[in-house]
Amino acid sequence: MTSTIAVIGATGKTGRRIADLLEDRGSSVRRLARGTAPAFDWEQPEGWRRALDGVDRLYAAYVPDLAAPGSEAAIARLTEVARDAGVQRIVLLSGRGEEGARRCEELLFASGIPATVVRASWFLQNFTEGMLRDAVLSGVLALPAGRVREPFVDVDDIAAVAVEALTGRGHEGRVHEVTGPQSMTFEEVAALLSEIHGRDVQYLPVEFDEFHAAVAAEAGADVATMLTELCREVFDGRNESPTTGVLEALGRPPRDARTVFTEAARLGTRA
Ligand SMILES: NC(=O)c1ccc[n+]([C@@H]2O[C@H](COP(=O)([O-])OP(=O)(O)OC[C@H]3O[C@@H](n4cnc5c(N)ncnc54)[C@H](OP(=O)(O)O)[C@@H]3O)[C@@H](O)[C@H]2O)c1
Repeated sequence: MTSTIAVIGATGKTGRRIADLLEDRGSSVRRLARGTAPAFDWEQPEGWRRALDGVDRLYAAYVPDLAAPGSEAAIARLTEVARDAGVQRIVLLSGRGEEGARRCEELLFASGIPATVVRASWFLQNFTEGMLRDAVLSGVLALPAGRVREPFVDVDDIAAVAVEALTGRGHEGRVHEVTGPQSMTFEEVAALLSEIHGRDVQYLPVEFDEFHAAVAAEAGADVATMLTELCREVFDGRNESPTTGVLEALGRPPRDARTVFTEAARLGTRA
């Protein structure tokens, strides 16, 4: 029987890379997002069974975030549907230091389906293709992060770890906590982006309520509250230490910020 690996969030930062890597290896991949056929929409669980029909391995990136309200019910339901569809391995993307995400991880491991969690720190690609790209382009990175240090991780490394967990041996029941090789302040990230792009990018530390108001004006109160609470939770220093997760999973060290930003600039995905 042909093995089919489904990727939920296949048009996003991690899912696109994972699907590409799997196809490069010759795997049969079903890319899933709201606009694919079949479609997968986290808000329409009635369509999940069809999306997972014939799938035996599954990668899932939940949106908006495992720390958001509703995530536990969604992950619990996903595992039920996956079991019903005959899925034999699940790899879930999670966020480091998030209590809500931790509860979702526990639900996954309790499901009885062989599972692996890839628990990531902040993505380096948030600055080059994600939610902070426009801020970097504007030259001002306003965040309620003070002088906290974060071991930003390369999404290509996350994808490589997820692919290993989907296709390799010995990953069942494990949490791969993945970070970059060194912790940096947002000020240091802004300085590095300024150097690589040849124009000024400033980090502006803001209070949580200022951040909430700015995000609410752009994306609405619910998104603002979710992101503000997430920042409040993880920017307290709990995530400052780098881990050896990438090295342990892949046998090589993670890529650093300079390498990732320089490559993004060369490829034209730069801010
Ligand atoms: N950014 C970080 O620093 C960071 C760190 C740790 C963990 N994470 C976790 O990473 C996850 C996001 O993964 P990502 O960055 O790879 O994705 P992403 O780049 O944010 O893209 C979101 C993906 O989800 C799809 N999507 C959006 N709304 C959807 C819905 N209602 N139903 C189904 N699919 C939907 C999008 O496709 P369509 O729009 O085409 O449907 C897209 O494929 C979140 O769980 C977040 O907590 C992020």
